[in-house]
Amino acid sequence: MEVLVLPTPADVARRAAEVVIDGLAAARRTAPVIGLATGSSPLGLYAELAKAVRSGRLDLSGATGFALDEYVGLPAGHPQSYRAVLLREVCEPLGLTSERLHVPDGSGPEEDELVSGATEYERLIRDAGGVDVQILGIGANGHLGFNEPGSALSSRTRVKRLSDRTRHDNARFFTGIDDVPTHCVTQGLGTVLDARRLVLVASGPAKAEAVAAALEGPLSASCPASVLQWHADATAVLDEAAASRLRNRQYYDASAAGL
Ligand code: F6R
Repeated sequence: MEVLVLPTPADVARRAAEVVIDGLAAARRTAPVIGLATGSSPLGLYAELAKAVRSGRLDLSGATGFALDEYVGLPAGHPQSYRAVLLREVCEPLGLTSERLHVPDGSGPEEDELVSGATEYERLIRDAGGVDVQILGIGANGHLGFNEPGSALSSRTRVKRLSDRTRHDNARFFTGIDDVPTHCVTQGLGTVLDARRLVLVASGPAKAEAVAAALEGPLSASCPASVLQWHADATAVLDEAAASRLRNRQYYDASAAGL
């Protein structure tokens, strides 16, 4: 695991974009597959990738994107559904065609439809040849995707209940807490671990405790993001505030400097 600590969120975005671009190049595929997180954390990273696309350094027109998760029960086209957010904030600026964006289907009214949709999602990822680079954020409670604390480390895409903490944290995107869905469909931790490269971005003091637990605590379902420790090609790109509770900082900085 590599831990890169940069002064500001803008530096995090730039450096994380390099790690993503490098991972896509290393995959050497004409149709690479990129795993997409939603939320505030990766927005700067997406903006940097969009810059690379505009300058001709990165071409994602043949790429396929797989979202990590989706809310259950939002009507199709709801502006805060992750499909709508990714189309607006990621696909358009990155030149990723909407036909090549896959998002778990959370719109089915019946649980068995959601369950079969989740199984189908796993098949789609497999058929695309797996995810080359998975972009990740981390919840203040250590969640990864919407795998809340207690999620099985080997879990696959499935329906999950959102924790109260996550619903409160995400209420800022809705008119109020009552409008935040209670459930989601999320890739499992086992699904995330299948990606060839993981790139986690985190900024700000609110993430410091979760980041320390994920990177330096025990590998545990109590902190789902701790699965990064299990992956052979995982990089965490953090700003100073998000890294402020790490104990092995000196080692990470020396490694990053190639010492
Ligand atoms: C969303 C996702 C979540 C977020 C996490 C952090 O697709 O995967 O795990 O990354 O909730 O959200 P922000 O970045 O908004 O703090």
